[in-house]
Amino acid sequence: MQRFDYFTSKGNHSPMSMSPYFAQAEALDAANPLAPARQLFDLPSDQRYFLGNSLGPLTHSAREAVNQAVNAEWKTGLVRTWHDGDWFDIATETGNRIAHIIGAPSGSVIAGDSTSVALFKVLSAAAQKNATPTRNVLLCDINNFPTDRYVARSVADLFHLQYKECAVSEMITHFNENVAVATASMIDFRSAEIHDVASVTAAAHAAGALVVWDLAHAAGVIPCDVERHSIDFAVGCGYKYMNGGPGAPAFMYVAPHLVNEVQQPIPGWFGHDAPFAFEDAYRPAQGTARFSSGTTNILSMKALHGALEVFEKFPISSIRDGSIALGDFFIAGFDEHLSASGFTLGSPRNSTARGGHIALLHDRAEELTEELIGDGFIVDFRPPNVIRIALSPLFLRFNDIAALVGRLSDAT
Ligand SMILES: Cc1ncc(COP(=O)(O)O)c(C=O)c1O
Repeated sequence: MQRFDYFTSKGNHSPMSMSPYFAQAEALDAANPLAPARQLFDLPSDQRYFLGNSLGPLTHSAREAVNQAVNAEWKTGLVRTWHDGDWFDIATETGNRIAHIIGAPSGSVIAGDSTSVALFKVLSAAAQKNATPTRNVLLCDINNFPTDRYVARSVADLFHLQYKECAVSEMITHFNENVAVATASMIDFRSAEIHDVASVTAAAHAAGALVVWDLAHAAGVIPCDVERHSIDFAVGCGYKYMNGGPGAPAFMYVAPHLVNEVQQPIPGWFGHDAPFAFEDAYRPAQGTARFSSGTTNILSMKALHGALEVFEKFPISSIRDGSIALGDFFIAGFDEHLSASGFTLGSPRNSTARGGHIALLHDRAEELTEELIGDGFIVDFRPPNVIRIALSPLFLRFNDIAALVGRLSDAT
């Protein structure tokens, strides 16, 4: 069988090539206001990359930041760079860049740790602040990413709380005078469903509970409106849509009115008010800096800090518009070319309810994922039947979506 040339989209062998779908892609790419952002990335020419929700690709600015840190700061400045350079403040400065992206005030976000550790810290802080002998329930999103559920259960055990799980859509009905803290993801890691953060947070507050939101699949692709939604605590990943690199630092947000009233469970010297005074007793720093524990991971923090420069050039509202446009274009292709071939949509059709990726369901999802990857379409599989396709608008073109739809339509 002759195959369509997915990489140039200039072949004319497949029925897809006759579809106006590719012509539309070309027109949409020509008019795309985010098109120049692609030049800020160093992308492999033989791959179309649909996993910006797993590991964002390399940016030129991240590479330059790491090169500078290695070849100038570490090599020449050595230990003096802690004070003469930006190493000591970089976790806060990176936090400020993230705050700008997630709609949080400057100074309310600190970068560091992994998301799992960050969640442990903020969830513990929330539990310690709000739990009483009768307010003794920790509520967790039952569809949350596994690490969140493991961490939440552990925090419940450590603080002698009852651990309960329910769907985020049902959380509102579970809030009462017994709930101390709840935790959920803003965007479901499988389906990309956006949860109603504002309503859940408001219902929690009305019942006297605190909420910790995991923004891992939201930060960098939708405006999270952390301040507008009166979020108490949030965490998220640096290596997904923020493109911070493998194992990039996570981030922690704590509402300014709460932060100086809470304690985190790993009171290290980097969260001390005067780390270089080497005092006997722990005195937490003012603000979210108290959520740091040990020495900042400078090389990975530099990569994240550098990668975030991209977001200074392209506002998050335009990134969200671009992500919706790519998602809607994929769904149009799905309706036209895939819906009759055993594929179903596992994500909301309505763009206001859908985050940055699309879950495409198929009985042979695992096998198809391997075939797609073999052909340079980098997607991933989530059991039992999900092909996950992230639509990162900063570097993907409509042409990439059209080529993926073409490849999928040939697959069955
Ligand atoms: C929603 C969510 N939370 C947490 C994590 C885990 O983060 P980390 O590996 O940084 O602990 C992931 C990883 O993909 C995730 O999707």
